[in-house]
Amino acid sequence: MIIAIDGPAAAGKGTIALRLAEHYRLNHLDTGLLYRAIGRKMADAGLDLDDADLAGTVARALDPADLGHADLRGREAGELASRVAIHPPVRAALIDFQRDFAARPPGAVLDGRDIGTAICPGAEVKIFVTASPEVRARRRSDELIAKGREAAYERILAEIRERDARDSGRAAAPLQMAPDAALLDTSDLGIDEAFRAAMAIVEAKRR
Ligand code: C5P
Repeated sequence: MIIAIDGPAAAGKGTIALRLAEHYRLNHLDTGLLYRAIGRKMADAGLDLDDADLAGTVARALDPADLGHADLRGREAGELASRVAIHPPVRAALIDFQRDFAARPPGAVLDGRDIGTAICPGAEVKIFVTASPEVRARRRSDELIAKGREAAYERILAEIRERDARDSGRAAAPLQMAPDAALLDTSDLGIDEAFRAAMAIVEAKRR
């Protein structure tokens, strides 16, 4: 079984994907990590993130070790990722890796922006996980506060809106709900409720 989970940043798709993978004993790939690693690598090397061909070269040379970089999870890496993710050569370089991962037994949960539309259009289950920008910004700022870090809600909200606009507005594999995806709005759901709702979608598809 292949489960494709797409949606904007901080909608809860990463946690839902992880829990579905555990529950159904499937492999899990957080595809955002690939774009984050490319953005991080280019920024660390002082390369121009707007150079599509250069970004494609970096993407083709991506090494599994690059995914272990210490600082890939934060907001800055997310921002770098969304800048390199607009380049068609970057996206092209990552297709085979993601499809090979999905094809490996016993199946996989992949989460990202274009899994149901471009990477695994034949996935048995597709879920589009979303939440309002305000709720997503609140979650991000609460996470930071819990870690004892400074969190400026308005700035985080502005960043989320900017990233949504870039991810949805790009020409190459934009963030879009696949026509055969189930919509899961987590705005009013806690993580356990969101997971149960996702499981209900999977079970309905399996029947
Ligand atoms: O999901 P995450 O926040 O880690 O993704 C970081 C960025 O990587 C996204 O904002 C998006 O620009 C890009 N991305 C993508 N396609 C994917 C996964 C992530 O374009 N499948």
